Amino acid sequence: MDYDVNSLTLEEKLQLLIGRNFWQLSTANGKLPDVFLADGPHGLRKVVDDSNCAIPVTAMPNFSTIANTWNPEMAKLSGETIADDCIENNVDVLLAPGVNIKRTPLCGRNFEYFSEDPYLAGAMAKSFIEGVQSKGVGTSLKHFCANNSEYDRVYQSSDVDERTLREIYLPAFETAVKANPYTVMCSYNPIAGIYASENKWLLKDVLRDEFGFNGLIVSDWRAVPCGYKAIKATLDLTMPYDKDAYKELKEAYEKGFITIEEIDERVKSVLEFINRITSNKSKRVITTTKETRHDNAVKIACEGMTLLKNEDGILPLKNGNIYVDGKYCINPVIGGGGSALATSDYKIEPLSTLLQPMIPNANVTSRTCAVAVTNLNVVGAKYSYEKISTADTVVLCVGTGPEVETEGRDRTTLRLSKVQEDFIIQSARYNKNIVVVLYAGSAVDASPWIDKVKAVLLAGFSGEGVQEAVSLILSGKVNPSGKLSETYPLSVCDTFNTRDCGNGMYENYFEKVLVGYRYYDTLDKDVLFPFGYGLSYSTFEYSNLKIKKISQTDYELAFKIKNTSAVDGSEVAQVYVKDVMSMVLRPEKELKGFCKVNIKAGETKTVKIKLDYRSFAYYSIPLKKWYVENGDFEILVGSSSRNVLLKDKIKIELDEAEQYSQINMKTL
Ligand code: GLC
Repeated sequence: MDYDVNSLTLEEKLQLLIGRNFWQLSTANGKLPDVFLADGPHGLRKVVDDSNCAIPVTAMPNFSTIANTWNPEMAKLSGETIADDCIENNVDVLLAPGVNIKRTPLCGRNFEYFSEDPYLAGAMAKSFIEGVQSKGVGTSLKHFCANNSEYDRVYQSSDVDERTLREIYLPAFETAVKANPYTVMCSYNPIAGIYASENKWLLKDVLRDEFGFNGLIVSDWRAVPCGYKAIKATLDLTMPYDKDAYKELKEAYEKGFITIEEIDERVKSVLEFINRITSNKSKRVITTTKETRHDNAVKIACEGMTLLKNEDGILPLKNGNIYVDGKYCINPVIGGGGSALATSDYKIEPLSTLLQPMIPNANVTSRTCAVAVTNLNVVGAKYSYEKISTADTVVLCVGTGPEVETEGRDRTTLRLSKVQEDFIIQSARYNKNIVVVLYAGSAVDASPWIDKVKAVLLAGFSGEGVQEAVSLILSGKVNPSGKLSETYPLSVCDTFNTRDCGNGMYENYFEKVLVGYRYYDTLDKDVLFPFGYGLSYSTFEYSNLKIKKISQTDYELAFKIKNTSAVDGSEVAQVYVKDVMSMVLRPEKELKGFCKVNIKAGETKTVKIKLDYRSFAYYSIPLKKWYVENGDFEILVGSSSRNVLLKDKIKIELDEAEQYSQINMKTL
């Protein structure tokens, strides 16, 4: 049914523009149905009483793990799975996905976002939204925009220029909006000095008019400094309820700061949103059980875990005495802290218990007590390395955790805790065959110990199925296929330390479009592990790149990938574009296509990827549009941003009348 704005009193209209409480909308004195919003991206987080305890649900892999799958189908599957928990608990809108770009690996919420690259982030977010909304549950694409650190997030302005916004911080939203999310959530921070909630250029000109978003714009919680200015900027719903907000809005109307027409426009938007919820309730059919949701969590975790090192083929584990230790070998971390932390009542078995039956020829033992290694003096005599020194292979489960990677604060270091670093280094003194399983939601500086261990498996923050996935990969029952969706720098000194950029009033994005691999590759900086990197138990060979020209700016690439090993596996082929000569600063390369293919041992598959105008364009400020300069472009195909295996060059020759003069090298 369509709800009529004229059936509401002024008071009911104003109440409708502000939450009824922390999670629900006003029902206009019963004239409207109840609407419940709830977090979060890695599983429903529905708090039902003042205890702030969330009801137990299936805890899914965090978005950083999902992004490392490079498989949008996994994002969709996670969305569908979480939606069933929402349906079961009468939640109408899931406050996810967050698509903020990982400008700095220090950002506390990076576990909750997809990537340092907007093309990958947009593809994953779009699929997640499609997954959730296919079940008649709404989503909230967040945090719009340029909320790239937690430090002073409510006050400090992201001082970023328009071209950088357009090329780095907006494209993931632009792509994800194509999935028609029920809502977009505006961020806390000002952008170029204007609060997101009041930023009419961003909310109306860009999001609504240019990107075509026709849903509801909701604030982040307590992200509205001035209600009537937000309405003028076309923000629809201020969350949560705030008694002063209603009073201020009423006074603003009475003083003529906002008109009834402006109020009605926003009320109509809320009514359309409520109407969309009620008219899609018929899609709310639960198709999973608690068991199948758990299986989905394991499946996604398996596909997102990333093998970063595997010397001497120590993995997969085969036989001998295997000893498992480390902070997370019994109680693993399943997610980062804050509003995205899902509560699971799934009983996670110790890693060794899961591993033993998968490697019957081995003898797997483990630390028995759950005490975290941080409580032991691992370097002093107190800690016995006897089991570590006598094992054939040692598996150390280390990582960060929700007390390190969380909403509300950034990290101050990329290093693991000193106790854990010492533990790895000390263990390596007693045994050369060390396998590190790393539970982290964002980049870790492993430089103190990486050369002392033979293998590193990035387990990530991977939900309640994390230990099953780790054991399946360590035992070789699953062939790892994850690739990094963010760069692991050698040191935090090689990247932006947000502390150096912010002064409490603004944080200047002086690096402009050079974010992540765009920065490291353009400045030719060494990194620990590059964007797009990940190993497999298989080996792959790329060949036969062919580029078919469809128009001046439309091309279809085709190339072959052969699995040259005896193990079936999956490979993520990546396509980067480089503008050979430009009149503006452009990154060394930019991701413009990718494809994950499953290839059986010895088989060859042909991969096809299309490029279009936006694959070559940069955003021109003077022209106020995306613009492709004529000239040469390199097409780079590789297994990571730093391992280009096929490359070719194309020349774009658009109609001269459409082009602007470039420096004429002949006359110089
Ligand atoms: C928080 C977060 C946002 C979350 C909301 C509701 O401050 O920034 O992501 O959805 O408030 O908990």
